[in-house]
Amino acid sequence: MTSAEDTAAPLSRTQAVAQNFGRRARDYTRHAHLQQHTAQTLATFLREHAELPDKGQVVEIGCGTGLLTELLHTPGQPYLATDLSPEMLEQCRSRLLSQAAGLGLSPDMWESQGLSFAVLDGQSATFAVPPAAIVSNLTCQWFADPVTGLVRLARQTPLLAFSVPLQGSFPEWEAAFADLGRTSGLLPLPHEQAILAALDGLAPQRLTHRIEERPQHFPSATAFADSFRLIGADQPRAGYAPAPIRPVLRRFANGLDATARILYCLVMREIP
Ligand SMILES: C[S@@+](CC[C@H](N)C(=O)[O-])C[C@H]1O[C@@H](n2cnc3c(N)ncnc32)[C@H](O)[C@@H]1O
Repeated sequence: MTSAEDTAAPLSRTQAVAQNFGRRARDYTRHAHLQQHTAQTLATFLREHAELPDKGQVVEIGCGTGLLTELLHTPGQPYLATDLSPEMLEQCRSRLLSQAAGLGLSPDMWESQGLSFAVLDGQSATFAVPPAAIVSNLTCQWFADPVTGLVRLARQTPLLAFSVPLQGSFPEWEAAFADLGRTSGLLPLPHEQAILAALDGLAPQRLTHRIEERPQHFPSATAFADSFRLIGADQPRAGYAPAPIRPVLRRFANGLDATARILYCLVMREIP
């Protein structure tokens, strides 16, 4: 007998990404150390170089459980938090609601603060009314084409503020696979020059960016792999064929410093 699962159509990559993150939504916040850091850094970078408009709607792409949302949303500001994964959105909503309860706000009062939620694929999002700002933390690398997706978003708003991991991240891990004549399963990441050149092509009034090299220490190769698995970010690159990684486990038996390269970027432009 064939089960329903055997006969189900294969998931598209986007559906698989949503499902993977959705499965981990409940514990995501506890394990999302890099995301916590970049959300904080992006919020600070934004405050140093621009201001979120106090009129019009701010849209966040890929809000996850709300690490950036909680830093950027101010009461009364229309703010639409969106994500591909309904489970992530639910966690975001319940986490922020319980934070508000901790501050003595009733659910009704909280509902009236301007925060709303929607399932949305950020790579194809089209807004009938241009958002006053679009913000996003460590999400656009999941787009099928991150550069095209970022340009598409930047075209639709006077202010795009985002962070994204770059090609050249985790060189220590990639080198271990290269030495075996293989390529790791990590997601291919966009190159900063490709992103900045494409955004510059929009003739922005201002394009401001910063690149951070962020080393993180892991006690073992397994701990490094878990840092992706436990937040649902372990969907491998397209075409990756899993193979034993014993030599990689041995190489990092005493720990691993894995360096993430992060681009923080603000694009300011007039919308015709
Ligand atoms: C690494 S998490 C970052 C979440 C959050 N921004 C944070 O800082 O914790 C990536 C998030 O992007 C979402 N995501 C992936 N692809 C997306 C897409 N095409 N459109 C919108 N969200 C997407 C995932 O569901 C996940 O919640």
